[in-house]
Amino acid sequence: MLRIISDNIILRPLQKADLENRVRWFNDPQVRQTLVVSEHFELEKTVRWFERLQSDQSRTEFAIETPDGVVIGVTGLLGIEKEHGLAECYCVIGNKDYWGRKLGTGVHSVLIQWAFEKLGLYKIRADIRTNNSAIFRVVEKLGFKIEGTLRQEKVVDGRKIDLYRIGLLRDEFTPTHKTFKIE
Ligand SMILES: CC(C)(COP(=O)(O)OP(=O)(O)OC[C@H]1O[C@@H](n2cnc3c(N)ncnc32)[C@H](O)[C@@H]1OP(=O)(O)O)[C@@H](O)C(=O)NCCC(=O)NCCS
Repeated sequence: MLRIISDNIILRPLQKADLENRVRWFNDPQVRQTLVVSEHFELEKTVRWFERLQSDQSRTEFAIETPDGVVIGVTGLLGIEKEHGLAECYCVIGNKDYWGRKLGTGVHSVLIQWAFEKLGLYKIRADIRTNNSAIFRVVEKLGFKIEGTLRQEKVVDGRKIDLYRIGLLRDEFTPTHKTFKIE
């Protein structure tokens, strides 16, 4: 199994056994507060999604583990367009005990290095909520730039919300991690 090992986190492919945690995290009101999700997540539906994922070349999903084996969240690349060298990234640290320990920064840093080096992509983008100060700080450190404001782009909990479209080109990337090992 692929393992991307960094200073304080390990990324490995998402497994069926992770889905229960994934559902719980995505339904946690505090975690959702900064996410662009409206629906209530259900295990059965998520299992079907996971099965479809196995033949989906446009996304790659990882579980985030600490070096001592605690699974703390999920991350990945979506909408991979090989012909354009482009993908969208996301990261959710669902275990809130691990917020604010620089792990979110570490996850993005290593995921993006993998995307540029191993997948050969040229650009990573994301649409982030304007209320998400933590993610804003994370991506700023890595070199992302705001490319625009998507006004009233989505409806979350019955309210129209704005998003920032952010993007990072390969030659703008400033990794924050030291170790990068693939097993
Ligand atoms: C957003 C998230 C990935 C950040 O991960 P993290 O490990 O908590 O963040 P880090 O510790 O790496 O760094 C966060 C930075 O934002 C700052 N920060 C954290 N919370 C903040 C807040 N509420 N307001 C302002 N800044 C904040 C930290 O001080 C740190 O900046 P610094 O390095 O200059 O000190 C994580 O909190 C999370 O998964 N949240 C829920 C889901 C989500 O919003 N995901 C992102 C959408 S793609």
